[in-house]
Amino acid sequence: MNILILQASPRAKGNTAWMADEYKQAAEAAGHQVTLVDVSHKKIAGCLACEYCHTKGQGACIQKDDMQAIYPLMAEADVLVLAAPIYYFTLNAQIQAPIQRMYSVNKPAKVKKMALLLSSHSPGVYTGATAEYHDICRYWSAEDSGIVTAKLDEQQTAATKEKIKAIVNNL
Ligand SMILES: Cc1cc2nc3c(=O)[nH]c(=O)nc-3n(C[C@H](O)[C@H](O)[C@H](O)COP(=O)(O)O)c2cc1C
Repeated sequence: MNILILQASPRAKGNTAWMADEYKQAAEAAGHQVTLVDVSHKKIAGCLACEYCHTKGQGACIQKDDMQAIYPLMAEADVLVLAAPIYYFTLNAQIQAPIQRMYSVNKPAKVKKMALLLSSHSPGVYTGATAEYHDICRYWSAEDSGIVTAKLDEQQTAATKEKIKAIVNNL
């Protein structure tokens, strides 16, 4: 399958990036084609709610930023993986921007499955992020193939690596 991973931590060698890379390696080993995009270092603005996309734009966003390169990747993906750190009890802003810019096309055309990789300092901080993720899965008619979370003592461990492999095997 064609898998797109959006990695949203600004820390290129941090825990979320590690999880995204582990997912990529496991998916490639299983024969999938994987594209990993570090959205945190892209210029992706928030949606302007100008409705250009739903009127004159005919599905095209008026904002010509780095999201333009993400739209075709979203359109071709069979599986979408969101990898984000928890900031203030929810998904960080860097992952919210590309998700919300999908307003112009409503949903990724081919995505049938999704997965979520979350990193945090503390335990018990995932309610907001997982609720949003499940709502997006439902709205985009995508099956949840699994969620892996890693709090401080679970970061970059063999056990977390195994959990990531398990959700890849669930595709
Ligand atoms: C702005 C900000 C807000 C954060 N808020 C939370 C939080 O609400 N709960 C928590 O457990 N950790 C919080 N953290 C810690 C990060 O989620 C944690 O360090 C995570 O592992 C960072 O992932 P990274 O290594 O990929 O950057 C916050 C960090 C930052 C920078």
